[in-house]
Amino acid sequence: MNNRILFAFLLVLAFTGYAGGETRKSALLQYDPAIDGIIGQMTLEEKINMLHGKFMFVSAGVERLGIADFKYVDGPFGIREELQPDSWSPLGLENDKATFFPTGSALAATWSPELAYRYGTGMAREARLRGKDMILGPAINIQRIPTGGRTYEYLSEDPFLSSRLSVGFVKGIQDAGVAACLKHYALNNQENNRGMVNVIVGERAMREIYLPPFQAAVEEADAYGVMAAYNKVDGLWCAENDMLLNTILRKNWGFAGLVVSDWGGTHSTVNSIINGLNVEMPGRRFFGDALLDAVKAGNVSEEIVNQRVREVLRVRLAIKPVPEEEANREMTSRPPQQKIAYDVACKSIVLLENNGVLPLDLKGKPVIAVIGDNAVRTMGLGGVGAGVKTLYEITPLEGLKDRIGEKAELVYAQGYEPVLNAGFGRRFGRKSQEELEKEAREKELLKQTMTAEALEAAAKADLVLFFAGDNRWVETEGSDRRDMMLPSGQDELIQKIAQVNPNIVTILVSGAPNDLNIVKPHSRALVLSWFNGTEGGNALADVLTGKISPGGRLPFTFPVKLEDSPAYALSNYPQGGGSRDVFVGLVEETNPEMGSEAGEQDSNKFSDPNTAYYSEESLVGYRWFDTKEKPVMYPFGYGMTYTSFEYASPATDKERYGKNDVIRLSIDLKNTGAFAADEVVQAYVHRINPDVEWPYKELKAFSRVALDAGEKKTVTLDIPVKNLRYWNESIQDWDHDLCDIELLVGASAGDIKVRKKITLK
Ligand code: BGC
Repeated sequence: MNNRILFAFLLVLAFTGYAGGETRKSALLQYDPAIDGIIGQMTLEEKINMLHGKFMFVSAGVERLGIADFKYVDGPFGIREELQPDSWSPLGLENDKATFFPTGSALAATWSPELAYRYGTGMAREARLRGKDMILGPAINIQRIPTGGRTYEYLSEDPFLSSRLSVGFVKGIQDAGVAACLKHYALNNQENNRGMVNVIVGERAMREIYLPPFQAAVEEADAYGVMAAYNKVDGLWCAENDMLLNTILRKNWGFAGLVVSDWGGTHSTVNSIINGLNVEMPGRRFFGDALLDAVKAGNVSEEIVNQRVREVLRVRLAIKPVPEEEANREMTSRPPQQKIAYDVACKSIVLLENNGVLPLDLKGKPVIAVIGDNAVRTMGLGGVGAGVKTLYEITPLEGLKDRIGEKAELVYAQGYEPVLNAGFGRRFGRKSQEELEKEAREKELLKQTMTAEALEAAAKADLVLFFAGDNRWVETEGSDRRDMMLPSGQDELIQKIAQVNPNIVTILVSGAPNDLNIVKPHSRALVLSWFNGTEGGNALADVLTGKISPGGRLPFTFPVKLEDSPAYALSNYPQGGGSRDVFVGLVEETNPEMGSEAGEQDSNKFSDPNTAYYSEESLVGYRWFDTKEKPVMYPFGYGMTYTSFEYASPATDKERYGKNDVIRLSIDLKNTGAFAADEVVQAYVHRINPDVEWPYKELKAFSRVALDAGEKKTVTLDIPVKNLRYWNESIQDWDHDLCDIELLVGASAGDIKVRKKITLK
């Protein structure tokens, strides 16, 4: 290949993302010669010592050979505080306050792989200050159900968007000298019963919908770590799943790094080590003495142990350990990372409705009633699982006060009682009937007082900013939401507010979809501002006041009602039954007052609680709503700005494309309004005359473009034909379905502006 052709080839790769896998070699393989020498010097005990938890977030090195211990840290939206070595209790350091980055769904709403990259570098820099080797993130499972407890941590319902962001995120982490750990591999799409549930999924849906973010992050970003999920897939635990770990991850994708169990997610010794697990965390129940015995008894060969140790050592050698005395010397959160958190937050905010009321008009010093607990609630911590002890977190009210200053009078009322500690501690000490009744009376009284205060503030105001949405206790690891209704009587409250002041802007502080049937008609503008990190309040205030035009786009569909969404419509979810979360056992060992009844959902009591059927196959998210022609509240990819855009002249570089071609699609985009703003141009592929079944359309390219008022740009999108292949179960490989296709280009899955037909031959 001459240089010019090579350069052009590399350029195409850079634009389109690598989609091969066949010839890829992980950079980790370069350490193998050195590792041969190291393993040769290790005793069997030393090897086994590397394969389980030494402390809660540390696995051992080999001191004698100068191999440092390996330090993990949660992820995925900021560096978790320092914990006691053997428990979940905080160590109580001062220096470990980190930057709280906008959570996964907010990051995804930026539709910006470049920002995901910066996000990764920022988090990794803070991990280094804390002496960590591996960040337990990104969390990249597909958002299959709107109620999923970890929707706010995950990125999107769409595999392509999730993949592009995962690649950016992982490259960012690893370029900054830390290993990334993709979690939770695989099909951990629900929190209820996550420790028991067996996912039954078709191979095609698995390969095309659920695995692509993992595949892309391994193949294109060379992710060094993968966390095996708690659940089972096809009858086998993810931490001992030969198909997932040995065949797909290592053999098909060329993964060369380490697989760590989710915390407490190991279930066996022999099957786990043979089928591909490297490190049992956090304990040593299966990979401690039991593994030593298994090797001695001849049930596990020493070669297998060597191979697992090799995979751990590759990552250990690739990541330079931070000397003990250099860790935790200075405050974790630093201004450059805070700036990244601000930039992501600004670009993530989604404007859902605007009846001319935004940006806020502050002429004449209006009185603004700020109503709702979410205006003052911090979201770095809460619920089960990892959070971020933040150095600071600007709440919406603080952001508004800071940015608006004397230009308006802000009056705050809490409005509703937040749901906190949901589901915890209920099993410890049952309350008497009398106590329960007393509590109910007190609650009712409190509600009446809060409502009265809110109505008083609203009545006197020119405008109401109503802060609705969930919080970190409502959306939490370990349990899914029972429904997507707004909590704390918010629907009832907004209806009352509307009677005294209909000039309402509603801001949703949520990481997942809510039911907006009541709120929407009562809101003159509706904004989704996520769990938006350390700088969330400032970013929101800058958007509301018009310093920045909102440019976030939904990474998931808002259904009209929960029952419309695929897994619910097909009765695949909830599965019914009840179970304690796997994580609770680990928590209770050290923190007995915590415990959860998560997983108690019996609306579908006749189904097997331990089996999740994914019979919707590939029809996840918008693929379902489009194909079934079901109306939605807001489509995938949707978001308004303070300006308007015109799409014109869709063109492709050819009319017919072969298997190895890249479709180059261009459109002219013009900002026809008066505000500088970003547009996210989205290209979906619709098959006109296919041989196999397809969803109505699928996202295959996008680009976030910044345009000044009046500016015009030509936007180019590349779609490699090989990215249009499907997983052919009969040949167990990716296969072409060459046919006529229509490229649908628009501003969301529900707003296609221009089209272009081409032929795949
Ligand atoms: C979560 C993981 C997390 C681990 C360690 C588990 O419960 O599922 O995401 O990294 O705990 O905190």
